[in-house]
Amino acid sequence: MFQPYIVDIHTHMYPPTYISLLRSRTTLPMVRTFPSAPEEPRLLLLESELPSLERALSSPAANTSGEPLPGRPLTKHYTDPEAKLAFMRQHGITTSVVSLANPWLDFLEDGEEAGKVAEEVNREMEEMCSKAAASQQNREGPDPLFFLAALPTTAPLEAILSLIPKLSQYAHCRGIILSTSGLGPSHSGLDDPAMLPIFHALAAAQLPIFLHPHYGLPDSVLGQNTQSKYGHVLPLAIGFPVETSIALVRMYLAGVFDTVPGLRVIIAHAGGVVPFLAGRVESCVVHDELLTKKFDNQERRTLWQVLREQVYLDAVVYSEVGLKAAVEAVGGVERVMFGTDHPFFPPVDEKYREGMEWESVRLNREAVRKTFGEGSEEERLVLGGNAVRILGLGSNTTR
Ligand code: URA
Ligand code: ZN
Repeated sequence: MFQPYIVDIHTHMYPPTYISLLRSRTTLPMVRTFPSAPEEPRLLLLESELPSLERALSSPAANTSGEPLPGRPLTKHYTDPEAKLAFMRQHGITTSVVSLANPWLDFLEDGEEAGKVAEEVNREMEEMCSKAAASQQNREGPDPLFFLAALPTTAPLEAILSLIPKLSQYAHCRGIILSTSGLGPSHSGLDDPAMLPIFHALAAAQLPIFLHPHYGLPDSVLGQNTQSKYGHVLPLAIGFPVETSIALVRMYLAGVFDTVPGLRVIIAHAGGVVPFLAGRVESCVVHDELLTKKFDNQERRTLWQVLREQVYLDAVVYSEVGLKAAVEAVGGVERVMFGTDHPFFPPVDEKYREGMEWESVRLNREAVRKTFGEGSEEERLVLGGNAVRILGLGSNTTR
């Protein structure tokens, strides 16, 4: 059977410093246990999990309603590098580009603390990658683990700017993961001009941004208490990708990509709704009085052009329709890269056993196989060839 080189560019972990931080907290994000399952710590991350947290706390003795406990179990897959490597072996993944999972350091109001946690988290990520490389000394090709660094978005601008060039000193750092929030606690967004020095610094250091959602859509759109009615489906399947899509279009409309032509952005979840709606964005731009004036005397690059020149997409969309749209939007298969979103979306089946294939990976892998054809050059590129080239995984490792 065809045995491709598989690189997972969308895969997360919470290093030790971050987990201790979450364990010490009583507001989101946090790790906590519940009386009905005292041995099973749970990871609470999303606003939409709050109503079910309140219910669990108001009737703590038992989970009689049949509603699952809030959040998700904090399994070893979130924290243990050995579990990551075992998951990779099970699924034929040769290299993973690991990033801190949401909500990163966005919630740390104390900027100084955010800076210190960022340094620790990034150091722990590098240590994990170096250890994995050392333990597989004899293997050929890229190291097993690389990482995307975390930025302390609430730290003073100078602190963030001084951290960026240092990231290149980590042998396994290949970019950064960033939320849609922007600088500071006010959610000013990525179109805030205050972000520009950071974008310039990232471009100069040749560190791409992996743009990842966390905040989703408000209850006025998702409906009150979506969690108790429909679980995580609406926030994750729709809220997340729409959030990233809006962030990308805001960057585009603000002219970020023209101001920083060296900036490269990888959009999570195959670009969300952007591949489907970029034409509508274009039409709205040319029919908008404000924007036509703004772009009046300039050669405006269309959103399509920017997608083809400065944007990459992951392939985490679980369907042929989505994958084909992603490839079309960025102008070719060379800009799309496989991912799993591990450790999110573990099997929920009671019969599931450790070591079995994850349904979420199977769906994504199958979508790639069906879209490009098993054993095809396109499949090879999406599964790993693109990531090796785009993220430079073949060079500058510890070996
Ligand atoms: N995937 C993520 O990366 N984060 C979540 O919170 C849920 C799914
Ligand atoms: Zn993710």
